[in-house]
Amino acid sequence: MITLEVKNIQKYYGEGESRVQVLKNVTLSIEKGDFVAIIGQSGSGKSTLMNILGCLDTPSDGSYLVDGIPAGGMDSDALARLRGEKFGFIFQRYNLLASLSALENVALPAVYAGTAKRDRDARARELLTELGLGAKTQNTPSELSGGQQQRVSIARAMMNGGEIILADEPTGALDSHSGENVMKLLMQLNAEGHTLIVVTHDRHIAGYASRIIEIKDGEVISDQRKAPLRERQENTTSPLFRSSWRYMRDQFGEAFHMSVQAILAHKMRSLLTMLGIIIGIASVVSVVALGLGSQEKILANINAMGTNTIDIMPGKSFGDRNSARYKTLTVYDSDALAEQSYIDSATPSASASGSFVYRSVSATGSLTGVGEQYFTVRGLELAKGRLLTPEDVAQARAVAVLDDNTARELFPNGENPVGAVILFNRHPLEVVGVTKAPNASFGPRSTLTVWMPYTAHMARITGSQTISSITVKIADGVSAQIAEKELTRLLTSRHRGVTDFFTMNTDSIRQTIESTTNTMRLLISCIAFISLLVGGIGVMNIMLVSVTERTREIGVRMAIGARQFNVLQQFLIEAVLICLIGGVVGVLASALIGALFNRFVSDFPMSFSTASIVLALACSTVIGVIFGYMPARRASQLNPVEALAQE
Ligand SMILES: Nc1ncnc2c1ncn2[C@@H]1O[C@H](COP(=O)(O)OP(=O)(O)O)[C@@H](O)[C@H]1O
Ligand SMILES: [Mg+2]
Repeated sequence: MITLEVKNIQKYYGEGESRVQVLKNVTLSIEKGDFVAIIGQSGSGKSTLMNILGCLDTPSDGSYLVDGIPAGGMDSDALARLRGEKFGFIFQRYNLLASLSALENVALPAVYAGTAKRDRDARARELLTELGLGAKTQNTPSELSGGQQQRVSIARAMMNGGEIILADEPTGALDSHSGENVMKLLMQLNAEGHTLIVVTHDRHIAGYASRIIEIKDGEVISDQRKAPLRERQENTTSPLFRSSWRYMRDQFGEAFHMSVQAILAHKMRSLLTMLGIIIGIASVVSVVALGLGSQEKILANINAMGTNTIDIMPGKSFGDRNSARYKTLTVYDSDALAEQSYIDSATPSASASGSFVYRSVSATGSLTGVGEQYFTVRGLELAKGRLLTPEDVAQARAVAVLDDNTARELFPNGENPVGAVILFNRHPLEVVGVTKAPNASFGPRSTLTVWMPYTAHMARITGSQTISSITVKIADGVSAQIAEKELTRLLTSRHRGVTDFFTMNTDSIRQTIESTTNTMRLLISCIAFISLLVGGIGVMNIMLVSVTERTREIGVRMAIGARQFNVLQQFLIEAVLICLIGGVVGVLASALIGALFNRFVSDFPMSFSTASIVLALACSTVIGVIFGYMPARRASQLNPVEALAQE
């Protein structure tokens, strides 16, 4: 019964002028169960013919039939399936995968064929034991001798049944003793019913075969039968499962496993590839955490100020440099506002700068006249003594509350300031309290501030009714917008239609801060995006190098039945794994940065959000897929013969 048949095939290499014909009009058929040797000198076209027979290569012209079906009409998956399940290849240089153990190498064709793990491991072990390698199943190829490696590759060829075994110079790299052993093994396989095609340039080796085909310069010059064709019992190929989702899962699991091995086999390179992703992800997560931490802190401070107050200041807007020239805001404005139904209370404040003196110490600072509500509204807390009382304000008492800076400056020896009398521009003030340092993060405060009742401030210090701001507390149940609109109208009419003041409520401050930090975040995201892009291109670069470097490995995988999909999947998984591990390491690195930051910087904490971490990991996965796709696709579309020819 004829199993393989080539009719009038031609094979050319090269184009145009440099075109050479390697096979000329080769026609032959090979019967089931036969042992055929193809012999000829080096360069005569034996390997080329063998590759065509094994569906690794295609003829330039002519037809090739496998069990009566033209191979020319098959798609790449069908060819891969033939290579994996009908043929078994044995190469001169063994072509085992260096990162896999002997057992894994032998089992690999069954992985691609879709045999269950338990079955394929059992069969691989059985085959290795039969070939005398039962003790070497866990050794990698580099730990085996040439003869042992060739036996592993024979076991691999048998893995999926090996109905037709194609051996290209199987003894070429072995000493004569190991060579004899290999040939005896092959004889035995033929006796068991496997069809055997051996390519050799050695007449002695050809002597083992039943039929010898000699080719010279691409032409068959003789075809002799030396022994009768053996009868052969029917197919022994083991049944396979495939096409279920279990098959897909199994394929994925194996590809994953092999990707991990490939990454571990090149630790340094994998680490360097990851570096771009690590730095990108770590900086994004850290910066977002910094932004979030400071924003939370600022918003907490604003909330501490209370949300139902409005500040009214002279000038056009916040930061108006000429605001000192506007002298129109007076204590009468404040009184008028206090009478409105939508306002709970109004506190004017006025400030003057000058020098504070206590005994021999003097310092420059500002003295601010305020109402008793000021401290609550500003969220200032008391450290010592008492705050201003309504009586202090009503009676315009010459009492003062110092901030922590002033207390430190004027009382450097740690005396208790409460009860002491200090001078401000020669006016005596009795210190009644000291405030705690505010936990605000608006930057360091170097200014000294002292507060006194605004009534006393106007009467004793400035002697004028002009004030620097009014803080109003909105009545309960009135919205900030309405109150703001109303008081603006009232003050504008009091100032004869001129709006020489502006208002600021904490809500609008909050909005400003939020929009500022959002802008910052957008900016940072853009920078992060660029750095991740650079990292991704790095990954693509290394993956392309890796594909080039592992071309031979890809060729071997294809020769033993890997479909394009399997190769694509594996390289894609490798790229995604590298990026994902990089992402995880990046997140861990930024957690470390955060821990250090929170330990040494007390102004505000770095705040990590789950969302940013999840997003970072998702990002690194997407980068892996996007930038891994091109190299993976390139790997999967390699031509098996060319890939195998790569050194
Ligand atoms: N990819 C290729 N491109 C060009 N020429 C090739 C290629 N592969 C093989 N050849 C040529 O084809 C001829 C036959 O090669 P091959 O089949 O490997 O010979 P053998 O296995 O008999 O030594 C040689 O002359 C070789 O140089
Ligand atoms: Mg050859």
